[in-house]
Amino acid sequence: MDAWTEICRVDELPRLGARTLRRPHGGDIAVFRTEGDEVFALLDRCPHKGGPLSQGLVFGRAVACPLHNWTVALDSGCAVAPDHGCTPAFEVRVEQGRVYLRAQALAGGAGTLPEAAGSSGDV
Ligand code: FES
Repeated sequence: MDAWTEICRVDELPRLGARTLRRPHGGDIAVFRTEGDEVFALLDRCPHKGGPLSQGLVFGRAVACPLHNWTVALDSGCAVAPDHGCTPAFEVRVEQGRVYLRAQALAGGAGTLPEAAGSSGDV
């Protein structure tokens, strides 16, 4: 249950962009790479109206949703004020240039939401 699964190499992710991982259920995961080669994973669904965050522009440690330009923090999955709402985030491990996600997440696990944060979730 706790196993990590390699999904790709860091250099296979577009810098300041993302790659999408398809899942059997639970929605796809967007895996982002920042300018500084940090890697984050969020459900590929904007907390506003479900826009595909994987198609947004990464800047700093955030992504701008391509639909209505909300800014979503990559570490928490939460929209930056004045907007509000969060999308689930997934743990990522990077080792020797390789990116790992928990097998449970890849199988459709729900990911984590910050405490007391609600996701609008309705698409
Ligand atoms: S759906 Fe992302 S900003 Fe509206």
